[in-house]
Amino acid sequence: MLLEARLESIAAEVMKEALGLEEAPNPLLRPCGDPAHGDFQINGAMALAKRLKKSPRDIAAPIAEAIVAHPAFSAASVAGPGFVNLTLDDGWVGACLSEIGGADLGIEQVANPETIVVDYSSPNIAKQMHVGHLRSTIIGHALVQLLRKVGHKVISDNHLGDWGTQFGLLIAGLREAGGEIPGDDPLAGLETIYKAASARAKEDPAFAQVARDELAKLQSGDEENLAHWKRFVEITLSSLRGVYDRLGVTFDEWLGESAYNDRLDGVAQLLLDKGIATIDDGAACVFFHEMGEIEGALPDAVPKRLRKQKSPFIVRKKDGAFNYATSDVATVQYRREVFGADRALYVVGSPQALHFEQLFSVMKLLGEPMRLEHIAFGQIQGADGKVMRTRSGESVSLGSLLDEAVAQSRRVIEEKLADESLRIPPEEIDHAAEVIGIGAVKYNDLMKNRTTDYRFDLETMISFSGNAGPYLHYQYARTRSIFRKDEREWPAVWDSAIEVTEPAELALAKTLLRFGEVVWKAGETSLPHLLCDHMYSVARTLSKFYTDCPVLKSEGAMRTSRLGLVWLAGRQLEVGLELLGIDVLEQM
Ligand code: ARG
Repeated sequence: MLLEARLESIAAEVMKEALGLEEAPNPLLRPCGDPAHGDFQINGAMALAKRLKKSPRDIAAPIAEAIVAHPAFSAASVAGPGFVNLTLDDGWVGACLSEIGGADLGIEQVANPETIVVDYSSPNIAKQMHVGHLRSTIIGHALVQLLRKVGHKVISDNHLGDWGTQFGLLIAGLREAGGEIPGDDPLAGLETIYKAASARAKEDPAFAQVARDELAKLQSGDEENLAHWKRFVEITLSSLRGVYDRLGVTFDEWLGESAYNDRLDGVAQLLLDKGIATIDDGAACVFFHEMGEIEGALPDAVPKRLRKQKSPFIVRKKDGAFNYATSDVATVQYRREVFGADRALYVVGSPQALHFEQLFSVMKLLGEPMRLEHIAFGQIQGADGKVMRTRSGESVSLGSLLDEAVAQSRRVIEEKLADESLRIPPEEIDHAAEVIGIGAVKYNDLMKNRTTDYRFDLETMISFSGNAGPYLHYQYARTRSIFRKDEREWPAVWDSAIEVTEPAELALAKTLLRFGEVVWKAGETSLPHLLCDHMYSVARTLSKFYTDCPVLKSEGAMRTSRLGLVWLAGRQLEVGLELLGIDVLEQM
């Protein structure tokens, strides 16, 4: 059982006995805000006061008295209005850690595994991937790994934007350009064509009509336009693959919008038949503010917020074309029918919040039971706090951003090699610069609560101290180096007994105890920063432990136990980084 669940059930049983209750109450167990007061606290006495007609402190006192008898705790005291502060017993902590070493570091498999689709990255064809897609790619990949680690069946899906209005413009624009894609870089060439065509369409209604006709031809299966489309997709995919390889990101499926083309007609018709969509000025639209009773809809299908806003969810345009919304409805149906999905996570920036709220509401109106979640995230900003742009005002390409990170990481590594605070064999410097540079970009993104915006600052993210990727890399490599110095094999599985007594040892041990719970929670709440916080705590408490508790100079059982702690910390850093999609270096 995960740590908090285990303590909670101990506390519940003790409370039931001590208070003579029929059923075990909810102890409302929480970690202590201030570790000086203890490790955990029970807040349940306050909640019981009314029912038992006693003061919370009078309820808390017998709980504190009874619970210290349990081997998990060494001290319990009543504080404030009726909290019970608890201190974990050193021996119990050591015994739990000894167990965890041989049990996947404390990670447990969920009792009810689900089939979960994670929809992430999902860039648009004929455009370079830009910084906005970076967050989706990094966060999505971490969630896939976190959820898989605890036993869910996860299907990662790159829902490419490969079927939108841009194709009419591209096809019409390519013809204008004499059928040739300009320049050496075909993807950049496509962007040039697209920009010119879209500017022209704004001024020239006849050209805009040509572009719309080309799109309609494509969507109804015209061979020539399909051939153009295939070429655009190929060009984009070959560039995307380069970026994904570099980021170490993979997908099980690459089902773009186009994959759902033959379902779109049916989707619009179904929504009209059910009375969910209505025809407005020729277009099929869902209006939430005037939605009536729909047969088969789930309760609360239309949340209050949606009832208040008037912008429609358009599933078929006036000219008969389908759009982003239509294919998203079809996608949900497909994921249930083909994958048997219980849940789908959409890792997409906050600006699309309304789209997903509308989509989820439409699915509930259709009676769709799949749990749908928008995993929103904030913007990456430049040093000026505005959306990141190049000097010429274009959005920054992901490739160039990664290049810059690697260059900066190389500069920092070289400085540190020069002053001998780092040791990397010369033939491994290239590899190290790449791993540390890309790892730093990823870690810096994941360590932020994803809902906030952040400024992209290479100097703070590529730092060997503080909460940053390189610091964790370094702390991990240090654990390996201790074993090398001890001339020991890095054990495949640790089976030693951990015994902790020193404060720095205890602080490290209590941190390590939480790993399983953190991995589970970070996946379940889609908040990878919880895992980053944990790893930073491991690195910090480990560093303090080295200072206060000699490892290689200690002897006997103490030495074995301390090496065990180093191993557990190293493995948690390694596995944690791996879950976040970050490689490690064995020697630094
Ligand atoms: N292609 C879209 C964009 O770049 C993101 C797609 C997200 N996934 C989805 N099922 N709508 O904005």
